[in-house]
Amino acid sequence: MRTRIAVLVSGGGTNLQALIDAAARGELPHGELALVVSNNAEAFALERAKRAGIETALCLRAKGEPRRDFEARLLEILREKRIDMLILAGFMAILSADFVANFPERIINVHPSLIPSFCGEGFYGLRVHQAALDYGVKVTGATVHYVNEIPDGGRIIAQKAVEILPGDTPEVLQRRVMEQAEWILLPKAAEEVARELDFARQKPV
Ligand code: GAR
Repeated sequence: MRTRIAVLVSGGGTNLQALIDAAARGELPHGELALVVSNNAEAFALERAKRAGIETALCLRAKGEPRRDFEARLLEILREKRIDMLILAGFMAILSADFVANFPERIINVHPSLIPSFCGEGFYGLRVHQAALDYGVKVTGATVHYVNEIPDGGRIIAQKAVEILPGDTPEVLQRRVMEQAEWILLPKAAEEVARELDFARQKPV
């Protein structure tokens, strides 16, 4: 049985699209994109999932709602769909240590910088690229890592460097990092982890 994957999204979903395209090319043989969960009803990622025939679910967090209530609902959705592995693909919420403990070494995230630079709480989306430009670094990139209780602190699976060019804006740089790093690294890492989990399930106890 292939590893059942849920992709957690909040926005445009270009990384989700990279996963969908990789799967369509046969590059995710040990994983099945079984579910896409969004914490934003307007996320275009939901549209991408529907077009690809992937089941979707909404898990919204009401203003002021305790994180543990939101996470309890999320966990219920994932359990109901018998999800083995999570991919955070532009998911703009930090998961608690308690939640993460349900999926040890079974959650991966893509982050748009070379961790440990420009990462951790408050560093997400365009803010990451703005910070890299403000600092004046000449090279940035993307990282795929396991998710643990420390924001952007889990073991690194893959990284790729991307050049910063004169005149870059956060938007231009974001696009280059996606094209040259994120969309390549994430599907490869997803297959690697899905394969490991698949083998682990088959191992006799
Ligand atoms: C991507 O660049 C992703 O790495 C980043 O948000 C963007 C989502 O784009 N994630 C983070 O910053 C998480 N800390 P997408 O919705 O088009 O995949």
